[in-house]
Amino acid sequence: CRVRHYKLNVVKKNYTRLCSSKSIVTINGKFPGPTLYAREDDTLLIRVNNHVNVNVTIHWHGVRQLRTGWADGPAYITQCPIPPRQSYLYNFTLTGQRGTLWYHAHVNWLRSTVHGAIVILPKRGVPYPFPKPDDELVVVLGEWWKSDTEAVINEAMKSGLAPNVSDAHTINGLPGTLPNCSSQEVYNLAVEKGKTYLLRLVNAGLNEELFFKIAGHTLTVVEVDATYVKPFKIDTVIIAPGQTTNVLLNADQKSGKYLVAVSPFMDAPVAVDNLTATATVHYTGINAANTPTILTNPPPKNATKVSDKFTDSLRSLNSQKYPANVPLKIDHSLFFTIGLGVNPCPSCKAANGSRVVGSVNNVTFVMPTTALLQAHYFNISGVFTTDFPANSPHVFNYTGPGPANLQTTNGTRLYRLPFNSTVQLVLQDTGIIAPESHPIHLHGFNFFVVGRGVGNYDPKNDPKKFNLVDPVERNTIGLPSGGWTAIRFRADNPGVWFMHCHFEVHTSWGLKMAFLVDNGKGPNQSVIPPPKDLPKC
Ligand code: C2O
Repeated sequence: CRVRHYKLNVVKKNYTRLCSSKSIVTINGKFPGPTLYAREDDTLLIRVNNHVNVNVTIHWHGVRQLRTGWADGPAYITQCPIPPRQSYLYNFTLTGQRGTLWYHAHVNWLRSTVHGAIVILPKRGVPYPFPKPDDELVVVLGEWWKSDTEAVINEAMKSGLAPNVSDAHTINGLPGTLPNCSSQEVYNLAVEKGKTYLLRLVNAGLNEELFFKIAGHTLTVVEVDATYVKPFKIDTVIIAPGQTTNVLLNADQKSGKYLVAVSPFMDAPVAVDNLTATATVHYTGINAANTPTILTNPPPKNATKVSDKFTDSLRSLNSQKYPANVPLKIDHSLFFTIGLGVNPCPSCKAANGSRVVGSVNNVTFVMPTTALLQAHYFNISGVFTTDFPANSPHVFNYTGPGPANLQTTNGTRLYRLPFNSTVQLVLQDTGIIAPESHPIHLHGFNFFVVGRGVGNYDPKNDPKKFNLVDPVERNTIGLPSGGWTAIRFRADNPGVWFMHCHFEVHTSWGLKMAFLVDNGKGPNQSVIPPPKDLPKC
């Protein structure tokens, strides 16, 4: 393994999309940002220079950050943000991880344009556990906003109402042919007949789960969230914000030009950007201008069956070389309700003096003004409490009438876990206001998805159906709309670890909490000391 140095300059740059230009915050002037390449077990030293006039942090989404929480990146959770004209050196090791992950800004809504892929190749000489592809391509899915996303969320937080939605989806930064005036803005993927390509898909969008489909071709899924899965064939991939998916594309069709369609999945009656982003797959040797594109129909917005078919097919590879070490004995059994609520807001003129909030176990998370990891490490009192409830405070019944009182409590409450304890966490969508799927992301860990269902979780019968043999291992799950998901992980990473909905609007509304994992007793079981250049709040 080696040490790799990267320099990421956060700079403004002018981009033209959908017929209008705007200045956006980027990494090194690129949208999406540059791909970072490394190998399993490499150490990355990434210098982030802030050349814009707002605070910045970068999160390395899915990197476990064993004992190096100082490099994790969520603002006010593990670090104070990097102020304008200052820099911070992120220093971490990719211990035992290989596959596709990604990085993004983790302060306010800056990640709409500040993001890019991380490609972690296996150790030198170690093959993939699937046939070697002839070539590899990174495909970052995102959103394009005509307005400034920081202004969009600031306005929504002031009014108490839901923010606007994006103006188009994008594929490697380009919306494709369908939206008006963007005929030049199509991503083309050139393939050679008979060859196989590994596509590394990332959903970097803010607020929508996305379907990904290529006309005339079946995809073979081989990895999600940088963990290998048992390969399976499918024609439509579902990918939630935060998730990554590697698929093999076999160029085995008639030479031609095929449409790639990226469209939203939302089985809730909420507003979404309904536009389908398009790209094309070209077989080399054809005359692209004179070849008609073979089209495909993206699934309808509420195609839950299409989404479930993909999700239900996921299994850990669970081979001798890549075993699934699912915790079997559980120390902490937790039940968290995930949903929305309404709180009083006298200053909110637009919504009758109230605002929409997000909550976990009825707690709406209040962002601290000192980073939680710093408060924990230096024993600064008064920043957080460790009384996050292990269970929902009121009996939860999704199928019955909703609660009369939608008000949540506010707090910066953490759930404390002893080092190396095992956790089972059942996440239940409350369906309050609207049943809606939530892409829940846990920092600092991968977890196993042992069960999933619709309606109320049944603590007596559902565990009997859990998959404890080869459940998929991930860092982000799409919690089904009006349903539940059970995950398991081992708290072997001391520090403070954020868990939140990866719909940026829900995070802003408070659908987030954090775990505090104590130091262990062994020599390598404590948070390492913070670096000298850690930003101050
Ligand atoms: Cu990808 Cu806390 O985020």
